[in-house]
Amino acid sequence: MRTPFVVGNWKLNKTIAEALALVTELKNQLGAVKGVAVGVAPTFVALPAVAKRLEGSTLATCAQDCFWESSGAWTGEVSAAQLADAGATWAIVGHSERRQFFGDRSDTVGKKARAALAAGLGAIVCVGESLAERDGGKTLAVVDEQLDGGLVGMDASVAPKLVIAYEPVWAIGTGRTATPGQAQEVHAHIRKRLADRLGAVAADAIRIQYGGSVKPSNAEALMAENDIDGALVGGASLEAADFIAIVKAARSA
Ligand code: 13P
Repeated sequence: MRTPFVVGNWKLNKTIAEALALVTELKNQLGAVKGVAVGVAPTFVALPAVAKRLEGSTLATCAQDCFWESSGAWTGEVSAAQLADAGATWAIVGHSERRQFFGDRSDTVGKKARAALAAGLGAIVCVGESLAERDGGKTLAVVDEQLDGGLVGMDASVAPKLVIAYEPVWAIGTGRTATPGQAQEVHAHIRKRLADRLGAVAADAIRIQYGGSVKPSNAEALMAENDIDGALVGGASLEAADFIAIVKAARSA
C-alpha cells in the first residue's frame, strides 16, 4: 500500500550543466515509471534548473535542507517557501552531515520539518546512529530522540507529506551497508514509535526510507523488507545507470 520513494541526494556534487545532463537521462528513462516515486536533491543553485527540466514528469525535485524562518536577517539561509518557489516539492532535513558538521539538532530539525510542511513541501526527516552509538547499544534511543524532535507539533494529517529516512551514520559513504535485518529492525521500531506519536493509521502510511551505501547490488534485498519503503541514495545516485537500477529494484520489491 505504501508506494516506495527513492531519492538521490547529490550532496555537494555536480555543476548545473552536469545536473541537467543527469536529470535529462533520468526523465527519459524514469519519467513514466510506475509503482515507485522518484526524486533528486541537487544543490540549491542547480535546483531551479533541475525542477524546470523535470516539468511534465513524475520525478520530484527535492532540497537538501531548508531554514525554518520564512524571511529576514539570516545570511546564507534559504527558506522553505523560497525552495517551493524555485520548484522543490520536498526538503530533506536533519541529514547526519548537517547534524555532524553544521550544528543541526533534533529541535532545529523539527523546526525545519514544520517549516517545510507549512510551505507546502514534503519533509524527509533523517535519523540514524553513529558507530559508537550502535556499539554502545544506543541505536534505538538515539533514533527515538531524533524522531521525537523531528515530530514535534505534528499530527496524523502529515502522513502523506512526511517521510522518515533511517541512515546509520556508519553506513554513509563507507560501502558498509546495514544488513536488511539490521535495517528492518530499526525501521519496525520507527514505525512503532510513529504509531505511538501519530496513531496507527498514519504510521502505516508514512514511508520509511533506508540510506547508507545503497547500491544496485544490495537494493533489492533491502527493499524486500516489510518496513523499508524506498531509499535515500548518495554516491550511487550520481550515475544514471546505478540510480535507475535502484529505482527498479524498489519498484519490483
Ligand atoms: P551514500 O549512499 O553515499 O552512502 O550516502 C547516503 C546518504 O547520506 C544519503 O542521504
